[in-house]
Amino acid sequence: MAVKHLAIIMDGNGRWAKARGLPRVAGHKQGAETFREIAYHCRDAGLEYLTVYAFSTENWKRGEFEVGAILRLLEDYLEEAIEKMVREGIRLKVIGDLAPLSERAKALIAKTEELSSKLSGFQVNLCVNYGGRNEIIRAARLSAESGKAFEDCLDTAGIPDPDLLIRPGGEKRLSNFLLWQCAYTELSFTDKFWPDITGADIDAAIKEFCCRSRRFGGI
Ligand code: IPE
Ligand code: IPE
Ligand code: MG
Repeated sequence: MAVKHLAIIMDGNGRWAKARGLPRVAGHKQGAETFREIAYHCRDAGLEYLTVYAFSTENWKRGEFEVGAILRLLEDYLEEAIEKMVREGIRLKVIGDLAPLSERAKALIAKTEELSSKLSGFQVNLCVNYGGRNEIIRAARLSAESGKAFEDCLDTAGIPDPDLLIRPGGEKRLSNFLLWQCAYTELSFTDKFWPDITGADIDAAIKEFCCRSRRFGGI
């Protein structure tokens, strides 16, 4: 069975930096580079969707300095990368509770959506201020108000559930990522930190996934 939709929890940036005697923010910077490389790798590998966890609804706990640095990196990334990614055939969608983000971030996200709407093919979903519980509550409210089906009110409406989820960084938990969508997703964990992840690691996880027997509750 092929992987159409890959989800990644991009974890371990801080520890990657600490191991090198660098500030945590240097790990986030390197993590953004890794994201860029892995996005192209997934496009070239023929995947349809890549969904990455960049900033959670709980990550605000980290204090103003680190939160500010992560959000600025995301904005700079969008500013630099959108036109290039779109030119190279990568659709970008930003997912999460976007209301508390800065005006600059919101404007960049709107521009991303506009440019991406003209494309078809490989899509990257970047989860920012995303939490599975927050998404479910927003979707339940929207569904009750609009009468639309619950799944059509999720941030991931129209996107198939992930086939495989990879979490680098050594932790074996979901940390509030795609709680609804991962009901039958296969899980893959590695101790490597996110900034050290390469296309070969992704290929190895996909290869191992292909040997698994997905039963979805059947026999
Ligand atoms: C993931 O790396 C990035 C974000 C959560 C924003 P961490 O910053 O969680 O890195 P560790 O887990 O502390 O090493
Ligand atoms: C999950 O990592 C969030 C992102 C990678 C964006 P965390 O580092 O926040 O998760 P915990 O705190 O280890 O569960
Ligand atoms: Mg972490």
